[in-house]
Amino acid sequence: MKLAQVGMMKALLVGSLAGLMAVGTAHALPFNDDMVNVQKRTGTIMRQKAPGTVAVGSSEYYVPPRDEAEKLTNPLKGDVTSTANGKRLFAVNCLPCHGDISKKPYAPGAVGAKALQVPPDLTSDMYKTRTDGSIFATIHYGIRLMPGHGWKLSTTEHWDLVNYVRNSQGIK
Ligand code: HEC
Repeated sequence: MKLAQVGMMKALLVGSLAGLMAVGTAHALPFNDDMVNVQKRTGTIMRQKAPGTVAVGSSEYYVPPRDEAEKLTNPLKGDVTSTANGKRLFAVNCLPCHGDISKKPYAPGAVGAKALQVPPDLTSDMYKTRTDGSIFATIHYGIRLMPGHGWKLSTTEHWDLVNYVRNSQGIK
């Protein structure tokens, strides 16, 4: 190795060491922006949401505490599409306990019939007097032996169910 080459190697070594030290003290590399270009910064997971999902607590799905939820007004009152969605959602989430509420006479679903407390007929007069907000809150938070469905359903889906229950009660 010639002397000039050794000199060049030394210069390279010193140069790259200086570079490494600079990296150690720098806040971020220009290409290291994965924690920068996001809305939330500290204490949150930075991965992208899976398509079609919504983070718990994000404003779109905000549901106030029960006493406030009971006072909510139905933004989709009487909406035909919403009621049809509600029928589908009811068949999946509620019918196993509450039975097919569009049929008379009332019969609880397969699960409800075996439950410690047989679910009541939602089309009876007592439940017709409940407000839309009250049914919304029941779906979200549950009531006594009925489990809450919470974040499993979006707020729109809550109202879809409320509309279907109302429709089955003969209330438009
Ligand atoms: C695991 C069984 C079960 C499931 C699933 C269930 N319920 Fe219930 N539900 C009950 C029982 C039991 C009651 C009676 C609670 C009580 O009054 O003590 C009830 C009561 C209700 C009431 C009346 C509450 C009141 O007193 O104002 C409404 C409205 C209702 N359910 C709607 C729904 C809807 C809508 C769904 C589907 C999203 C659903 N339920 C799913 C068991 C269930």
